[in-house]
Amino acid sequence: MPTVRDIRAKAGKEPITMLTAYDAPTAAIVDDAGVDMILVGDSMGNAALGYDSTLPVTVDEVASRTGAVVRGTEDALVVADLPFLSFGYDEKSAVENAGRMLKEEGANAVKIESGPHTVELTETLSNLGVPVMAHLGLTPQSVNQVGHVRQGTTREDADEILTLAKEHEEAGAFSLVLEHVPANLAETITAELDIPTIGIGAGPHTDGQVLVINDAVGLGDWSPPFSKQFGDVKGEMERAVSAFREEVESGEFPAEEHSHVEDELDGVY
Ligand code: KIV
Repeated sequence: MPTVRDIRAKAGKEPITMLTAYDAPTAAIVDDAGVDMILVGDSMGNAALGYDSTLPVTVDEVASRTGAVVRGTEDALVVADLPFLSFGYDEKSAVENAGRMLKEEGANAVKIESGPHTVELTETLSNLGVPVMAHLGLTPQSVNQVGHVRQGTTREDADEILTLAKEHEEAGAFSLVLEHVPANLAETITAELDIPTIGIGAGPHTDGQVLVINDAVGLGDWSPPFSKQFGDVKGEMERAVSAFREEVESGEFPAEEHSHVEDELDGVY
């Protein structure tokens, strides 16, 4: 079973890879490809559940998807994202929600969109045996306060992110996602921390990289400018679905090899 120690041990030595997944077959593909960590991100709100932000995503939705991903995964470390307002209000419910991902669904760790309000919680969870991946920079759960724009672009904001990064490391976080921040800030934070940094839109100097699976494989109509499409799954699905419709309508499918005939029933009806 993978542990957060294995991930920490790679920091600064080998690049760490992480992709999101929200179901068992996708998790199995990501896992078979040798990706280190699978994030059951609340990005499922946009990527899989049809919401227009991550805010409506519930603990039940993340829990159900986490169970599916765990069932599809053999080697990768599975990280469950804590959705909007499932933490940060009172510690008891945050611990219960995080604990549920490990106890009931089999995740190995949780990710928390971080800020000054999550330092203590990170320490509590880490002490209780719940590994925490912190997340700074652009935190989409704060969309109503900060929008979807680059973070850490002024000296003051960059200092605040660096300070919070150190505080979360000290509180016991095993790794840190840095989203949509300047590459030189991510480089500085990576140099200052012992725990691995995992970047998304944070340049090439972090210890690892993460992308949303829909963006990476080319499934969806839009992807952020900092991501890269490594495939054309949408195009492939469109071709397959159209071929199905055309072949059913033309009578080409199902063919003889897709059907079976029971000799005993011949001529009975
Ligand atoms: O929810 C998510 O998928 C994330 C990644 C973009 C880091 O937070």
